[in-house]
Amino acid sequence: MKIDLILGLQWGDEGKGKIVDVLTDDYDIIARFQGGPNAGHTLEFDGIKHVLHTIPSGIFHNNKLNIIGNGVVIDPVILKTEIEKLYELDVDLTEKLMISRKAHLILPTHRLIDKASELSKGKKKIGSTLKGIGPTYMDKTGRNGLRIGDLELDGWNEKLNNLINKHLNLIKNFNVDFDFDINQLTNEFLESLDFMKKIKFIDSEHFLNKSIHEGKRVLGEGAQGSLLDIDFGTYPYVTSSNTTSAGACTGLGIAPNKINKVFGIFKAYTTRVGSGPFPTELFDSIGERIAKIGNEFGATTGRPRRCGWLDLVSLKHSITVNGVTDLIMMKGDVLSGINKIKVCTKYNYNGNAVDYLPFSIEEENIDPIYEEIDGWEEDITQAKSYNDLPLNFKNYVEFLEDKLNLKIKIVSVGPDRTQTIFV
Ligand code: IMP
Repeated sequence: MKIDLILGLQWGDEGKGKIVDVLTDDYDIIARFQGGPNAGHTLEFDGIKHVLHTIPSGIFHNNKLNIIGNGVVIDPVILKTEIEKLYELDVDLTEKLMISRKAHLILPTHRLIDKASELSKGKKKIGSTLKGIGPTYMDKTGRNGLRIGDLELDGWNEKLNNLINKHLNLIKNFNVDFDFDINQLTNEFLESLDFMKKIKFIDSEHFLNKSIHEGKRVLGEGAQGSLLDIDFGTYPYVTSSNTTSAGACTGLGIAPNKINKVFGIFKAYTTRVGSGPFPTELFDSIGERIAKIGNEFGATTGRPRRCGWLDLVSLKHSITVNGVTDLIMMKGDVLSGINKIKVCTKYNYNGNAVDYLPFSIEEENIDPIYEEIDGWEEDITQAKSYNDLPLNFKNYVEFLEDKLNLKIKIVSVGPDRTQTIFV
């Protein structure tokens, strides 16, 4: 038995939550491998919308295990709120959710450092979700971090106080001014830690490898998107983890030869939230239309997302670095009614046509080269099978498959679980 992965191929918000929820029936275990509560995974069923930040998206199914892997960074304050919302819906987590002892903790001071760092950058800010992600991963790689398993060891209070004091000194060095009440933040953190202890802590790499060996089916769930990967994304406008398939190996302790399918999710167009280059961004009425119909607002921060045409140059880059085996196209319905759809197939990079993602894709040196495809008028949100879809929609799918040299196995035509078509 091997593990399958599901991950985003653009700048996040591709709809991973919905597809994990749809695919969960085929798996015994869903394991999140990186990121933290900067993610907002949206699931919709029975007319209700649910947003998960840290908890894997298989949590609404019975008899499935959900594991928060070692590569994830956990903010106990946010996790507590997330768990309480699930309790209100009568979702019992005691047998269904487990946390890796090796996952790192986001302290309230990590959030403060994030804020101080962004304030100090001014116009050059990353546009971070301010959830403390970057500073927590910095402490992890700097070998200063605190892990879930540390809660079970002696000396916890001292380690915590030392790190908080170190952070407070660091914040002073940014020379930016904002108010916070460290006592109130620390109390809230400690209360949430106590609450979190209700959830089972495990040695997840051992548990997962044993489960795979016993024939259990495991799905690794990514967060954010490949263009936000710390190595292969649009650095420095990225997040601080490896969002690509390699991140599943380090974020779960799974060897590369144990990976089977890699499901790559993309939207039929492109969105980005936060700062950074975006070659196919639209600043016209079509961009506004996509934002409105696609309800393109961040699930975590509520910020409006920037919208643009599909960019096959960056999509190919993501497919390659992830080893994608199966493509999933989301939100095709949002493009209904657009007469001519553009797709970027190459970049004009410093005067030359290129079909790969160069080192820097700042606006000044990149111009997208587009091909145009006829759109479709029909509302496709009620389509139940691939045959129900209009010819021009199918032409769009086939055009993309041809350019990407890979099959699109699922198309999503609306936010609900039921609006999912297996091609
Ligand atoms: P951070 O990871 O919160 O520091 O944010 C770094 C960049 O990644 C910012 O541009 C964020 O908007 C973006 N980002 C982080 N998480 C997500 C996500 O889940 N979806 C989309 N963008 C994200």
